Amino acid sequence: MQKGLFITFEGVDGCGKSTQIKKVAEYLEEKGLKVKILREPGGNHIGEKIREILLDTKNENLCIESELLLYLASRAQLVRQEIKNLLENGVTVLCDRFYDSTTAYQGYGRGLNIQLIESLNRFVTVEGKYAPDCTFFVDLTPKDAFERIDARGEEINRMEMADRHFFERVYQGFVDLSNKYPARICRVDGTKSIDMVFNDIMKKVNSILLIK
Ligand code: TYD
Repeated sequence: MQKGLFITFEGVDGCGKSTQIKKVAEYLEEKGLKVKILREPGGNHIGEKIREILLDTKNENLCIESELLLYLASRAQLVRQEIKNLLENGVTVLCDRFYDSTTAYQGYGRGLNIQLIESLNRFVTVEGKYAPDCTFFVDLTPKDAFERIDARGEEINRMEMADRHFFERVYQGFVDLSNKYPARICRVDGTKSIDMVFNDIMKKVNSILLIK
């Protein structure tokens, strides 16, 4: 059985990645592929419980070290309980955020040690065995992204309570990561229309499917 493709979607809050994931899933399912959408933090029973702790606005005393370890705990669980089996059974996995978010948010954003985070990212993905084949960085600046979030009028979560400078550092994190790993991370212009962003993503996805 050929291993499934593992694709992750990254970017600052409000960049539009969730809309794109649904469209990519529909397209690939129409082509006859088995597809599973997962999200981080969360994606399964234990992960969703960890997600509640991480995003609850009442947990303002959660220290940044615990925050880091909880994101990693959620991922360790998701990899071993879901992603491993799905990929080994040939399912294409589309994940809304994965380990680049930890480097960007907890590393660049919170200022925790990037080398430590990168080694923990390897640890939770079984030494990189279940690392993404391809990652889309939907590039929208925090300023533009927050205009979208405001327009939606949804309640904000604990992470979104951080200040503007935090999100600027997070954004810079994604930019640096996409420059550091150009073979894996594909940067797409998130200011374009939904259909145009989708076209850019599908060009890359189709090229990977042809190689596979
Ligand atoms: P969510 O509502 O899922 O945001 P989005 O729709 O933008 O993905 O909330 C997840 C939040 O957790 C988001 O602010 C990004 C943050 N996050 C981290 O800080 N570190 C991580 O490792 C992950 C996966 C997410």
